[in-house]
Amino acid sequence: MEIPGDSETQIGQRLMPRLTSSCPVPVPMSAVNALGAAIEKLKRDRNAVILAHYYQEPEIQDIADFTGDSLELSRQAAKTDADVIVFCGVHFMAETAKILSPQKTVLLPDLDAGCSLADDCPADEFASFRDQHPDHFVVSYINCTAAVKAQSDLICTSSNAVNLVQQLPEDRPVIFAPDQNLGRWVQRQTGRNLTLWQGSCIVHETFSEEAVLKLKLEHPDAEVIAHPECQENLLELADFIGSTSKLLSYTESSQSETFIVLTEPGILHQMKQRVPEKNLYDVPGIDGCSCNECPYMRLNTLQKLHDCLENLEPAIEMEEELLHKALQPIQRMLDMSR
Ligand code: 13P
Ligand code: SF4
Repeated sequence: MEIPGDSETQIGQRLMPRLTSSCPVPVPMSAVNALGAAIEKLKRDRNAVILAHYYQEPEIQDIADFTGDSLELSRQAAKTDADVIVFCGVHFMAETAKILSPQKTVLLPDLDAGCSLADDCPADEFASFRDQHPDHFVVSYINCTAAVKAQSDLICTSSNAVNLVQQLPEDRPVIFAPDQNLGRWVQRQTGRNLTLWQGSCIVHETFSEEAVLKLKLEHPDAEVIAHPECQENLLELADFIGSTSKLLSYTESSQSETFIVLTEPGILHQMKQRVPEKNLYDVPGIDGCSCNECPYMRLNTLQKLHDCLENLEPAIEMEEELLHKALQPIQRMLDMSR
């Protein structure tokens, strides 16, 4: 399999066009308030729940009924009694919600909100990879398509990956897909030798080691906290590594007053609310730009959230058979991570 560009220049080139096209246009406060009121009314009329990932625009996080990491959002999708789930996140997250609640209408404000990790792992190529390792147990990170989930034995998220892999029989070889950076981190944490698919996140691969070291020089007492999708050289600089929710709670529990945050800066919105007295620094990309926002997550806007609630589309639609096959490994994850 050919791995997409892995030099710093190639990563910059891979990321820039999409970031440029997704730059949000500032919306006046009065318009935000009016949209917010209209969304609240539609939400009541539709008996809808709004779930939002921490990488969404602040105004979307603020209007959501629940914000969380991938695991928490999946749990919410599985247990909600709303008729409509509006998933303010990316496609694989909305798809997971549909798999867990197939009888509900699941809306994604912008259907183009994908994920480079899911794109890096086409289902047919993954099937050939599995065929080359027929004795392997297949663990897939939730950042993949339903068609890849359907070929997996177990799904994990960044918050439970280490714990789940530790529960697998020691003598069973394991495929881990699609994120090679998360996979390597799980290997180091568990001591397990994993057969890794070579996917990566375009956002977490753009963080600059030089920028972290510069921030460390400016703020020597700061703790570096990182998402495990970051490359190994960045993770080596980290004092704490975890999912978005774990990073958030670490800023509360740590004695430190200052944090250098190595993940998508959308999370800073929640951190600023939970620890307003602390100093938080996000990290620019490799070429010094501040384009460290996920270009897919940021496709969702308050206006698109309003419109999808009004029109009840775009909705996630899936074949019955795929829904059924993809559910098994997700349900196993939820059962094993109780
Ligand atoms: P979390 O599950 O840690 O929120 O991560 C989701 C994600 O897409 C990170 O890039
Ligand atoms: Fe996918 Fe990376 Fe965006 Fe997360 S930050 S949704 S892994 S592209």
